[in-house]
Amino acid sequence: MQSDYFDKYGDHVFYRDVKRQHGVIVRAKGIYLYDDAGKEYMDGCSGSMVTNIGQGVPEVVEAMVKQAGTVSFTHGSRWATEPLMHLAQMVCDLAPKGLSRLYLVSGGSEATESAVKFVRTYFIERDGAGTPKHKIIARWHGFHGNTLGALSMTGHMPRRQKYNPMLVDFPHIPACYCYRCQYGLTYPACGVACAKALEEMILKCGPETVAAFIAEPFIGAASGAVPPVEEYWSMVRAICDRHDVLLIADEVMTGFGRTGAHFAVNHWNVVPDVIACAKGMSAGYAPLGGIIVKESLHQVLKDGTGKFTHGHTYGANPLSAATGVAVLTYYLKHNLAENSRVMGERMFKAFEPLWESPIIGDIRGKGLFCGVELVRDKKSRMPFPPEYAIGEKLTQKLLKHGLVVYPGSGHADGRAGDHVLIGPPLVITAAEVDELARRLIAGVRDLEADLQKREI
Ligand SMILES: Cc1ncc(COP(=O)(O)O)c(C=O)c1O
Repeated sequence: MQSDYFDKYGDHVFYRDVKRQHGVIVRAKGIYLYDDAGKEYMDGCSGSMVTNIGQGVPEVVEAMVKQAGTVSFTHGSRWATEPLMHLAQMVCDLAPKGLSRLYLVSGGSEATESAVKFVRTYFIERDGAGTPKHKIIARWHGFHGNTLGALSMTGHMPRRQKYNPMLVDFPHIPACYCYRCQYGLTYPACGVACAKALEEMILKCGPETVAAFIAEPFIGAASGAVPPVEEYWSMVRAICDRHDVLLIADEVMTGFGRTGAHFAVNHWNVVPDVIACAKGMSAGYAPLGGIIVKESLHQVLKDGTGKFTHGHTYGANPLSAATGVAVLTYYLKHNLAENSRVMGERMFKAFEPLWESPIIGDIRGKGLFCGVELVRDKKSRMPFPPEYAIGEKLTQKLLKHGLVVYPGSGHADGRAGDHVLIGPPLVITAAEVDELARRLIAGVRDLEADLQKREI
């Protein structure tokens, strides 16, 4: 049914899918959204792993109003502000040891773009303007954002395809994705071939040309919360060190407690050179992203020209920074990384009945970050044909049950392959986790019934 708002305002919004009828959300509180017909939805994916502290937290709203009335804008090239300095201190305190400088931008794509421009700048400052170090190795199945530079690093075909001729030619290697191993191997007999692929690619490119390797600790939107094998990150760290290549962890989705640790790289005690972050830093209350950089790399800039020739109007924005301070204060006060760990364990346990579903091939992830992969045939892991849009169909079923999830596709062969991402706000309670699982299982059963009746 068309919302009354169309009568009031007409139809002038340019949506991502111009054919889809979008529901209108009029209110949000905690982990729930409410539409203009009064229906309640449990936000099982925090928007897109964003609203980590839940919506409508009064302390955050108060901090935002206060900052808007104190200093609403300053330009980052000229001024510092208290919230900027405070946020940098808080974020660097949470980051792995040695990463003690925060550069602020407005979101995840700006963060990954900033990360690669920073590593290029670092090598120029260290080795001189003629340094050939500029290549960024990324992974197939990775997602690093939708601006053209970030999309060039992204290895997810459905997002790249239309824009391929416009993209920069960054080298890609297979990701660590055991359920669909690109080598057709099995862990541990594989010897973690996907990590060794990094060294092969560095040597192929010529180490003197390679500036950095970028990867998500857990693959997020492109494949659905895919964890690496235990030794993957320490292996890639060692390979980077051997070849004077910097390691960028894209923690835009996983940062700030999503996987049950402040940063996902903490699970393996690996210290990257740069962390790209966003989403959970402001939990959706204001646009915010950043890169956290090793002090030793920052020092090279300090000893050199001092100039990072890069920036955006809304970088270092005081209102966004004050929002980040309030959000992270709440995050720490309520120990949300720990709640993510504990509730995550409960959530994966509550999802166990789904392993028996004939259309669910894999359930993976960590903390409150879970991917559920849909398959037509469990044994062969054959995906559904892309025309079925099975992930979207499951999403529609779940909306009927009042649960919002984040579907994705194309990870099996560039076209086929469907998953839904589940990642509720980190404030979720035990009873809400159980309710989320109940709604998810009910939606999956509905979809199975439709498939049995061949209504799909
Ligand atoms: C890992 C990762 N990197 C980068 C981005 C891009 O962030 P944004 O949409 O804020 O530009 C995303 C967004 O989902 C992401 O998951």
